[in-house]
Amino acid sequence: MPLPVSTVILGTGAYAPARVLTNTELALTIDTSDEWIVSRSGIRERHIAAPGEMTSDMAVHAARLALADAKLQPADIDLLVIATITPDMPMPATACSVQHKLGLSTSTACFDLNAACSGFIYALDTACAMIGSGRYRHALVIGVEKLSSIVDWTDRTTCVLFGDGAGAAVIGASARPAVGLIGAKLGSYGDCVDLLCIPAGGSNTPASTGSLASRDHFLKMKGKEVFKYAVRGMEEAARDILEQHGIAANQINLVIPHQANLRIIESIAQYLELPMERFFVNLDRYGNTSAASIPIALDEARRAGRINPGDLTLLVAFGAGLTYGSALIRW
Ligand code: COA
Repeated sequence: MPLPVSTVILGTGAYAPARVLTNTELALTIDTSDEWIVSRSGIRERHIAAPGEMTSDMAVHAARLALADAKLQPADIDLLVIATITPDMPMPATACSVQHKLGLSTSTACFDLNAACSGFIYALDTACAMIGSGRYRHALVIGVEKLSSIVDWTDRTTCVLFGDGAGAAVIGASARPAVGLIGAKLGSYGDCVDLLCIPAGGSNTPASTGSLASRDHFLKMKGKEVFKYAVRGMEEAARDILEQHGIAANQINLVIPHQANLRIIESIAQYLELPMERFFVNLDRYGNTSAASIPIALDEARRAGRINPGDLTLLVAFGAGLTYGSALIRW
């Protein structure tokens, strides 16, 4: 196969479970309030997966919509990358279950990728590089999370922030020059692992009655510290990619940031000296859906007519690790 000139997004899709959990409902079970959650984070409600609804099920819904949008069939896909920190099981990869449920060919390369909330950008860059190698034709890239299964619903400092959902994109080659993924910048502050993690259930602290009693199999976060790194990581990721490609911030038509906290997004807007109208924000309706947040927002932005041919879009994220990433897309 000749090497493709560009790697482009051919279609997108998103899915959120039907159940909506409002701040007011949360305040019935923990000591919090709608006013506190909205003023500290901007979040008003989040979607919660139904009992028995798996991460792979949500991924399949989003993937079918993305395939339809791209006007492609499951047989056209030869690469499936799933960004998630909430796989159906620790092993095997959720991508294998999604492959089966979608009816993808057994010659599809399938793997999961864990870069937490930066996961979709990591997966997008990985898939585009693989398509760019000329060895794969069409990739399905999915960011999907069932965070309701790992948050501690008795911990008000974390449980109010997260939600469930899935977003997908189909990637393919294009003969048009200078379109699609123009570039990506990925990184990580690996000295900050402890700021946001699930301490137990891995090889360091295997699940035990002790880890259950200490609730160490749930997500733990030092919110204030994470906030500072989030701002720093997203600013650096945005600045680096713009500088690398000689692009001024005001040339960006739309920024799609990771949807963790409105105050973090406002800081990035201030740093880039861009008005908030250039930022796509939907965290009020979803909360933080980790790897799913950017692809859900991307799909909503496209369907809302916020992205047009020729536009330049900046994706920027940070997450546990602490990872960060940015990507520039020309449509
Ligand atoms: N409802 C009511 N009060 C709450 C609360 C809740 N859900 N959660 C915490 N509080 C209380 C705290 O106990 C604290 O009380 P105290 O002053 O009596 O000790 C007070 O509110 C302030 O807490 P603090 O942690 O200082 O709030 P904050 O302004 O830093 O906001 C976060 C907290 C978590 C919203 C904020 O730090 C944040 O968004 N961090 C980044 C998190 C993130 O994005 N994580 C995902 C990474 S991908």
